[in-house]
Amino acid sequence: MSIIPKKILITGGAGFIGSHVVRLFVNKYPNYHIFNLDALTYAGNLENLVDIESKENYTFLKGDITDETYITEIFNKYNFTDVIHLAAESHVDRSIKDPLAFVRTNVIGTMVLLNAFKGLWSGNYKDKLFYHISTDEVYGTLGETGLFTESTSYDPNSPYSASKASSDHFVRAYGETYSLPYVITNCSNNYGQNQFPEKLIPLFINNIINKKPLPVYGDGNYTRDWLYVKDHARAIDMVFHEGKIGETYNIGGFNEWRNIDLVKLLCDQMDLKLERPQGSSQELITFVKDRPGHDLRYAIDANKIKDELGWMPSVTFEEGLKETIDWYFDNSEWLNNVTSGAYQTYYEKQYS
Ligand code: NAD
Ligand code: TYD
Repeated sequence: MSIIPKKILITGGAGFIGSHVVRLFVNKYPNYHIFNLDALTYAGNLENLVDIESKENYTFLKGDITDETYITEIFNKYNFTDVIHLAAESHVDRSIKDPLAFVRTNVIGTMVLLNAFKGLWSGNYKDKLFYHISTDEVYGTLGETGLFTESTSYDPNSPYSASKASSDHFVRAYGETYSLPYVITNCSNNYGQNQFPEKLIPLFINNIINKKPLPVYGDGNYTRDWLYVKDHARAIDMVFHEGKIGETYNIGGFNEWRNIDLVKLLCDQMDLKLERPQGSSQELITFVKDRPGHDLRYAIDANKIKDELGWMPSVTFEEGLKETIDWYFDNSEWLNNVTSGAYQTYYEKQYS
């Protein structure tokens, strides 16, 4: 347990990854106070945190990271010693439909936080940290071979990845220009409990339960590197405490899957769970129009964080996927709640 008391602002803590990070920090570090700032967009869900919401070292703040007045006010009120910044618009398909929303939250929102942090500490940065959470998608796409390393050039292809790349550049620029202490991590695709069912794995789990078609984009030969969300949260804990200021760390699962192979594995595991005949969920697979600008392949070389900080994924993909499926089955109310309302409207627009 760390002994330095801290007041950590975690942004986006009601979302998928953020909720796992908030839970880990609140439970593991009782001498830290964790402030969870979230605007509760369609992707933010306080049901994700019911088990820790009454803890003494936890405070929820509802607010928008682009709201300069509010952000300045809370920085001055609470004197956050550190920021772990996860709040973002995070879905590529949405970014294709409404790119400006991504610039607002991911670029302007990050700038507002950087300015508030800089304004509060005015150069007195001892024991302070601005930790920016980013994605491997900033590197663009790989061909059939090769891996993204920390020195791979940025080459984003979607409005989402362009907005994340831009925010990464601003964080680094504040480090160079104003000596603001930062670390950045670029992580591969996450999966696990509490992921909003617009991303591949939870969307397909939900569709299989409801015997709805599984819309595979293009020929399904796109490849992603999958990491269990709790392993990402553990990596964030390690980088927060042991990462070197001004450094970037890539985080990945050493776990590449072609979409179509992943979907078939998921179908087979779901058939077992639902006690349906093997092969019946695979019949739901439907190849649909491709995503514009679809990146062929992402794969992370995570050897820097492994060698320097000793981090490794702790569960196999099969184990993590099973835990994920079990969780969605045990939490059908959560799934029903999020698949109603705004989500349905979006779903019709995307897939009608
Ligand atoms: P998510 O969409 O599940 O959650 C985002 C959270 O941010 C939500 O709770 C939402 O309410 C909040 N939010 C959005 N706009 C906001 C605003 N203007 N002000 C305050 N709060 C706002 O996202 P996620 O999948 O948990 O991703 C979290 C972070 O991790 C993002 O920065 C994302 O780029 C990064 N990341 C995600 C993945 C992945 O596979 N999901 C992989 C690598 C990196
Ligand atoms: P997604 O979960 O949206 O993550 P990202 O685009 O950030 O990698 O998609 C993962 C992969 O699955 C990606 O190659 C797009 C593909 N995909 C489909 O084939 N069908 C779908 O309905 C979705 C949402 C994604």
